[in-house]
Amino acid sequence: MDMLARMAAGLCVGRVLMLLCFSLSVVSASEGDEVQLLLKLKSVLETPSTAGVFSSWRAGDDKCGFTGIVCNSDGFVTEIDLSRKGLAGTLPFDSICSLGSLQKIDLGDNLLHGNVAADLRNCTSLKYLDLGFNSFSGKVPDLSTLSGLDFLNLNNSGFSGVFPWKSLENMTDLGFLSLGDNPFDVTSPFPMEVIKLEKLNWLYLTNCSIRGQIPEGIGNLTLLENLELSDNELSGEIPRSIARLGQLWQLELYNNSLTGKLPLWFGNLTRLMNFDASHNRLGGDLSEIRFLTSLASLQLFENQLTGEIPEELGELKNLTELSLYSNRLTGSLPPKLGSLADFNYIDVSDNSFTGSIPPDMCKNGEMTDLLMLDNRLTGTIPATYASCSSLTRLRLSNNSLSGAVPAGIWGLPNLTIIDLAANRLEGSIASDIRMGKSLAQLLLSDNRFSGELPEAMSEASSLVSIQLSLNGFVGKIPSTIGNLTKLNTLDLNGNLFSSSIPESIGSCVALADVNLSNNSLTGEIPDSIGNLPTLNSLNLSNNELSGVIPSSLALLKLSLLDLSNNRLTGPIPDSLSIEAYHDSFDGNPGLCSQRLKQFQPCISSSQATTHLGVILSCFFAGIFLLLIVFAITMYLKFRKKSNSLKSVNSLWRPDSWNMKPYRVLSFTQREIIDHVRTENLIGRGGSGNVYKVVLGNGKELAVKHIWASSSGSLRSHRSSLAILSKKSTGTPEYDAEVAALSSIRHVNVVKLYCSITSEDSHLLVYEYLPNGSVWDRLHESQKMEMGWDVRYEIALGAARGLEYLHHGCARPIIHRDVKSSNILLDEEWKPRIADFGLAKIVQPGPGGNWTHAIAGTLGYIAPEYAYTMKINEKSDVYSFGVVLMELVTGRRPIESEFGENEDIVRWVRGNTSSEKPLLDLVDANIPDTLKEDAVEVLRIAILCTANLPTVRPSMRMVVQMLEEAEPISLKNVLVDKVGENSQQTEEKQQNTKPSS
Ligand SMILES: *[C@@H]1O[C@H](CO)[C@@H](O)[C@H](O)[C@H]1NC(C)=O
Ligand SMILES: *[C@@H]1O[C@H](CO)[C@@H](O)[C@H](O)[C@H]1NC(C)=O
Repeated sequence: MDMLARMAAGLCVGRVLMLLCFSLSVVSASEGDEVQLLLKLKSVLETPSTAGVFSSWRAGDDKCGFTGIVCNSDGFVTEIDLSRKGLAGTLPFDSICSLGSLQKIDLGDNLLHGNVAADLRNCTSLKYLDLGFNSFSGKVPDLSTLSGLDFLNLNNSGFSGVFPWKSLENMTDLGFLSLGDNPFDVTSPFPMEVIKLEKLNWLYLTNCSIRGQIPEGIGNLTLLENLELSDNELSGEIPRSIARLGQLWQLELYNNSLTGKLPLWFGNLTRLMNFDASHNRLGGDLSEIRFLTSLASLQLFENQLTGEIPEELGELKNLTELSLYSNRLTGSLPPKLGSLADFNYIDVSDNSFTGSIPPDMCKNGEMTDLLMLDNRLTGTIPATYASCSSLTRLRLSNNSLSGAVPAGIWGLPNLTIIDLAANRLEGSIASDIRMGKSLAQLLLSDNRFSGELPEAMSEASSLVSIQLSLNGFVGKIPSTIGNLTKLNTLDLNGNLFSSSIPESIGSCVALADVNLSNNSLTGEIPDSIGNLPTLNSLNLSNNELSGVIPSSLALLKLSLLDLSNNRLTGPIPDSLSIEAYHDSFDGNPGLCSQRLKQFQPCISSSQATTHLGVILSCFFAGIFLLLIVFAITMYLKFRKKSNSLKSVNSLWRPDSWNMKPYRVLSFTQREIIDHVRTENLIGRGGSGNVYKVVLGNGKELAVKHIWASSSGSLRSHRSSLAILSKKSTGTPEYDAEVAALSSIRHVNVVKLYCSITSEDSHLLVYEYLPNGSVWDRLHESQKMEMGWDVRYEIALGAARGLEYLHHGCARPIIHRDVKSSNILLDEEWKPRIADFGLAKIVQPGPGGNWTHAIAGTLGYIAPEYAYTMKINEKSDVYSFGVVLMELVTGRRPIESEFGENEDIVRWVRGNTSSEKPLLDLVDANIPDTLKEDAVEVLRIAILCTANLPTVRPSMRMVVQMLEEAEPISLKNVLVDKVGENSQQTEEKQQNTKPSS
């Protein structure tokens, strides 16, 4: 290099060349430095070992040949392009920006983290900066020195705080600006700096924490081709000036609070292909849409639009997607809709459309989704769809459609759901259905279907749900039904089936809910039904079934069993003679029972001769039994007393206690033990008594006193947590278990300070939470008005606590007894999960087999407890779903109003399948404006309480879904408290969010 410089210097003759030569010599000096700068960049970035991005970056080589480096003709680095290389690390902008000629940095789509240092300001020659799709933290530094930028992408890069909008002021060349999807936690009004950037053709400010009105000035950006402002808090009307953006091909305004009509002259946007203003509060009609001749995708679902769909929409040649569900649209759909285009998606559900289904939407064979539920459509299902093999979802329920279903529809190869419930359709299910290899849901309830079920139905092997209730189907339940091994729900209620129940039903191993009631079924209940491993409800009532109740049924623990009004005979198995099945056998005069009073006692023929003797001896035996029970009760009472006396006595011998601290303690063992006295008792739980301890310094603690009992597995009624059995106290397993629980640190989990153990007693010292439990607040005397915001926060916090237990610890901790009385509230009403893992400590199963221990509380217990003792995290998810239902509805998990065998889950479910909107289930104390928000959470609760554990979401997903269900009002509160809680990022999951 020196050589070169000297040669160059030698060439310098005359004043004219002097300046040039001077700069050339500077150049050659720093060219070597540039290699060092690049090697520094290499040294701080980690790459996946396989990628070899930096294999060409070697000290001795020409830097202009390094992968991703571009130089100018003078040999200076002008571009660094290392996008999508899996790079991790923190960028050294001090070195990067020392590259004096650098014009382009593209490091998008990597795993870069850390802060972006203010040194970025020194990259003053930069024209192109792409740091999008990374995991940076902290704020975006001031960028005002980068005024030459024409391309700026910081999309989805993890930046928080507030964007320095002022920096954009002088970037007059900017054509591309993308800042969206960052967790900016401070909202800004629409940045006026942006509407001065007249060269912008791409503006992406989705999910950017922008509030307020879109300024009229937006119309100045006449070169804009793409304008995306979705997922913000924009309000007011869409400005009229938007009609001046004649180059726009995409306009995305999804999920804001925009009001008013589509502005006049909106139809001038004749290049517009994609328009999405869904999930706003737009009113008015669609007349301006008539002129948008380039439209390919129109999404305006969840607004308040009225009027009819303009006829012109049927003439569009590029339209592929139309999603207008949940509006107030009327009139009929354009008959030519979709006929000229590669139309593939329509969802106009939940409107008031009349008239018939346009026949030609699948003309080009591209149609995948045909969704028109909840309208007032009439006429038949057009035969044209019988050959629409691309169709995956056909949902037309709740209309007034009539006639027969074209045969080919049943067997469409890609169709996963046929939902035609609640219409006036007739005819039978064609045997074409055997070709429906994707069909999972066949929902035909409440129509006028008739005829026999084709045997070939069992070849539709993907079927999960068959719901045919309230129709006129006749004949046999096909004996081949056993081939449907994925079948989960079989509902044939209210038809005219007259065969016996095929034995092969026992092969449908996934069956959970079977309802064959209100038919004319004959013969015996097949023994095989009792062997179904996941059966949860069985309703065979109102048939003509005869014979005995198969003994296999006695082993099932069903949440619903109804065999009433049949012709069954013989004994009711003892294990089924329980309160929960009180009415399950009514109307079967031939049944007998030793336990249920309304039935005749079972007696064998030889006994019949000594009938009276039996009655007499029963009488005396009864009295004898009563005496024994009385004696035992008295004994236990006395024992319990002496037990507590004993433990109180032993409290006074401090040497018998052993304390294990799990945090820094500001109290002594003696202070705690002194306070475990009756007058401080604040609760009796399944696992022991709880005392409130106020220390000398005013600090409050909650002490759980778990006592040992040699009686082992005494179970209380409300909670089945057992009293600690003798062998489990003080064992190494017990200590390890408590130590594991004590290591948990989470804001939504109750703090455990220490444990204090004696030979037969155990104290667990927790933080004291002054506001009691969610159960108390919702249902007990301390009940109080809780707004939806408070309830939502409780739901989300508790979900995070559970998520932490499941996913945040070294090994998952299953709570086993999630219920509203185990969710405590601190002084700010923040929830804390309590009593986690206690079930496991307190009641080991036989042989200390923890995972098989029964725990839980009636009303919260997941159905799988009934058929298998194996439980996992998903059992907690079920119980948490019940808590969510309590929060939304204000009801207890079990209420007499729900009926004998019903709990809150069945009650909510029952209401979802009826016409009644979920909205009606929401607690009357929640104001109408927030009920929609509450319904969102109720939907999550329904997912959590799915019958099959595998179908339930993980707690991680539950947290995500709850975050997405954040009520609007709360968002504003959060925003006001700057920096308090990082604004969660809501992602627009899918443009085409289906209505169901
Ligand atoms: C960046 O520029 C500032 C002056 O604007 C200077 O003080 C600083 O040293 C520069 N940083 C680097 C790494 O060159
Ligand atoms: C933009 O340029 C003007 C005029 O040069 C200057 O006064 C102003 O400070 C610049 N803005 C920013 C943010 O640097």
